[in-house]
Parts: sequence; structure tokens; C-alpha cells
Amino acid sequence: MPVTAIIGGQWGDEGKGKVVDLLAQQADMVVRFGGGSNAGHTVVNQLGTFRMHLIPSGIFNPHALCIVGNGTVVDPKALLSEADELAGRGVDLRGLRISDKAHVIMPYHRLQDRLEETMRGQKAIGTTGRGIGPAYADKYARIGIRVGDLVHPSSFRARLEEVLPLKNRLLTEIFGADPLDLEEIFDEYCSYAERIRPWVATTEPLVRQAVLSNRKVLLEGAQGALLDPEFGTYPYVTSSSPMAWGAFAGAGIPPKSLSYVVAVFKAYNTRVGGGPFPTEIHGELADFIRRQGGEGHQEFGTTTGRPRRVGWFDAVAGRYVVQLNSVDVLAIMRLDVLDALEQVKIAVAYNLDGARTEEFPASADVLSRAEPIYEELPGWKRPTGACLTYDDLPTEARRYLERISDLLGTPIGLVSSGPDRKQTILLRPSFWAH
Ligand code: IMP
Repeated sequence: MPVTAIIGGQWGDEGKGKVVDLLAQQADMVVRFGGGSNAGHTVVNQLGTFRMHLIPSGIFNPHALCIVGNGTVVDPKALLSEADELAGRGVDLRGLRISDKAHVIMPYHRLQDRLEETMRGQKAIGTTGRGIGPAYADKYARIGIRVGDLVHPSSFRARLEEVLPLKNRLLTEIFGADPLDLEEIFDEYCSYAERIRPWVATTEPLVRQAVLSNRKVLLEGAQGALLDPEFGTYPYVTSSSPMAWGAFAGAGIPPKSLSYVVAVFKAYNTRVGGGPFPTEIHGELADFIRRQGGEGHQEFGTTTGRPRRVGWFDAVAGRYVVQLNSVDVLAIMRLDVLDALEQVKIAVAYNLDGARTEEFPASADVLSRAEPIYEELPGWKRPTGACLTYDDLPTEARRYLERISDLLGTPIGLVSSGPDRKQTILLRPSFWAH
């Protein structure tokens, strides 16, 4: 496992937190390379249940350096409240580092996110409202403020004096909102800067050094590949790349040093927010699936509490993601959620405008016309939460997993059937031994 990227293979919420937490036990470094506090990674370990938003889920290994990479967008208030909660529950934060090149989410980003969503009306993206899109837009428009600016009051003030008048014109003249006060923002953010300063570092040399000395580095993806701004269901996407290559730009990983890619999938599909979802299920069955998984692990957003849309496993989308990211192994999560079903379905192709296709049309307009063609398999109707080995799983469950693996053309390396670390079956020990 020299340098391994863990990415979400669907629309986010696949269970990356659990996989990173597990693998991070052996890692020397864990780097979050994209997104911000829109993410919600649930981790269950000996210290309890944690809902991580920005701090890498590797923080539970006190020997690993945990980096919030340059490709992330950092809301300092949210970061500090997460850090306080972790510290209050006994987690050692000495290994935390925040890239000085990560961009800062400012109050006008959160405001702009919500105002833009309201303006979109029926076409709203269903963002998490955390200011993610506007913060990345400002990064590329070269009017962003970086963590390295924030921790130097004079640079911060100079940047704010340059950017805020622009933002206030946007807020007042386009959206009819009230302007924001420079002094108020400056004072509030200087107090955050004081607290985060000890964690701020130029992180790319740390990453490079770890790679050069053959350390085990985990690259923790956020969101899911189908939310990628290039290849996802645009415009219903997020604003940073959740793909494996997001780590090159978002963590400073030299491209040739990436050894493995693990893609995390749920045993079915979910999506939160707007946008096409060909295999979506409605009604009683959807409600039933949403409520499985046990207290605190049902299908409601970790960050926003919104009910997640649920659907059957989509192998067309899955194969597309696996091919784009040259995935080595699949981690299939939440198999237990399907335990009670008589029958399970997998979309193996789409009917698109009267013709069968196995290609994923990555455009919201086209995808919304795709009708899934299903293969139906018998359910296993037995609990899988206590299965410790692959052979313990019911035959029908194994058949289901093997069919997914065949359709995606990729071996399965991990199966999870419950939130606990113990409810994890590792296959291919030689792969995980790297
Ligand atoms: P944003 O990232 O807040 O701008 O939201 C854009 C889209 O990505 C919306 O559909 C969100 O629901 C979705 N999204 C963002 N982060 C996550 C996540 O961590 N899990 C699932 N969906 C997410």
C-alpha cells in the first residue's frame, strides 16, 4: 500500500470513512485532497462514532500525519468545531496539518451558495450550502483567500480589502442582499487564524518526502466520482475532482507515484441533492432500504440530515468510474442493508432513446432519459452482519457480489456488512499487505 487513493465510486456517501479508518491503522500519512465540510465521513471505532467533515479520517492513528491538502476548501469555523469535538473525545490532533495553499471559505461564499440555489428554483443543484462552489469559483477567478494569507493578518487584510468590495457589489446589486462588514469578518477570521496557525504548513514537501522514503500514504477522496465536475452528471456535481487524479493537484502527489486505487461502492446506490439517478427507487421499498443499517446509520445525509435518494446498484455507472480511474479493487459497503430483500437488481445497461447502451452518458440531460435494463438476482434473506469470512456469506450474497465484480471488471477486496470495524471482510490479503 505505498501510495493508495481511496475514492467514492458513486455519488458520495459510500462509506469511505470506514475504509480510510481501517487502512489508516497501517498508514504513515493520510491526505484529504478535495472538497470541504460538504463531506460527511462516518467512522465507528473503539472511541465511538464520529462524523468527520474535513479532518482526514486517518486522525485516529496517532502515528500518522493527517493533511488537509491544498486542493480542499477550509471553513475555519467548521474545522475548529470538528477539532474541538475530536480533542474533547480524546483524539490526539498533533498529527494534523493544513496546507497553506488550501482556500478559505468566507461568509460570503456560504451566503452566495444559498442565494444562487434559491435563484435556481426548480433547477437547484441541492448543494450542501457550505459555500463550496463559490469558494472554488473564486479560487479559479483568482480572488480567493488562502490559509497562508489568513494566518498573516496584514496579508489577510490586504486580500479582504481587495475582494470584499467586489463580493458586496455582487451581494447587493445582483442578489439584493445586505453587504458584509469588513471589520467584523476580519476580527472573526483573525480569531480563527490564531487557533489554526499551529497546524498550518507547506504540505507538499511533506508529501513528497513521504513518497520518496516509501512511506505508506493514503489519499482520502471526498464525495463520489459521479459528482466530478468533468466526468460527473454535470451540472449536478460538486466543484472539486473526487477522481483519483484529484490527488495529483489536490495533495501534490507526483503522478507516477500513485500505486493503487481503491473504489468504494455501496451494495446499492444513493444520491443526495438534485440530478438524474436512473436506478432510483420510490415508495415503500425506497423507504424500507433508507431505514435499514441501524440507528445513526440510515440513509440520511451526515452533513445536512437530508433523506438520501436510494436505488439499485448501477453497473453501467460503476464500470465507467472504474475505467476512468484504473481502479485496482472494489470495496463494497453496506451489504447488510439488502439482507431482508426477496430479490435484488443490478442495472446492466440502459435503454436510451430506443437503443440499448452500456456506455454511461455523463450529461444530466441525456442521463435523465436513460431507462435501466435490470438483471434480477435472488435475495439472501439472512443477516450478514456477523459473517467474518467471505465463505460465511450466504451463497446468494456471494453471487450478487461476484456479478458486480464481473460487470465492473474489477476484483472485490473488501466487503462491509455493518458500521463496526469488525464487520469487515478483507479479501485478497496480498493486495492489502502492500
Ligand atoms: P456542494 O458540494 O455542496 O456544492 O454540492 C453539490 C452536489 O454534491 C450536491 O448534490 C450535494 O448533495 C453533493 N455532495 C456534496 N458533498 C457530498 C457528500 O459528501 N456526499 C454526498 N453528496 C455530496
